[in-house]
Amino acid sequence: MEKTFIMVKPDGVQRNLVGEIVQRFEQKGFTLCAGKLMTIPKELAEEHYGEHSDKPFFGELVSFITSGPVFAMVWEGEGVISTARKMMGATNPADADPGTIRGDYAVQVGMNVIHGSDSPESAEREIGLFFNEGDLVEYKKTI
Ligand code: CMP
Repeated sequence: MEKTFIMVKPDGVQRNLVGEIVQRFEQKGFTLCAGKLMTIPKELAEEHYGEHSDKPFFGELVSFITSGPVFAMVWEGEGVISTARKMMGATNPADADPGTIRGDYAVQVGMNVIHGSDSPESAEREIGLFFNEGDLVEYKKTI
């Protein structure tokens, strides 16, 4: 079953949005496979956001994501990678539709509450960066 990496960023954790965000994914029908509250080491942040290393905002991005605890998760379900992206809304909250997480809870592109993998390749890479295989719970839902 398809899996994706989702992370509530430091702004979302400090604004007590972890429960709300987890609830949205649960209510949609996705399954939580792993989750941990952690402060990201600088090296891991640089690797996670490696594709943005040549962008002018890279330093700001790494500094923000390491500034406080994040809640890193793995969610599973049919089409979870693209559906999670729709539920999150556009990267820039100014462009995110109301009803999406960023549309409802964020105003700035740098502090946009949540990160989610943008492709199957990113999902595999990001899950591997943040979790060990044994961290992911395997269970069969009966409903
Ligand atoms: P995310 O989905 O975590 O992936 C890369 C992040 O870079 C993105 O969300 C934004 O939070 C951040 N980002 C994108 N553009 C800018 C920008 N112009 N200034 C600061 N941060 C940005």
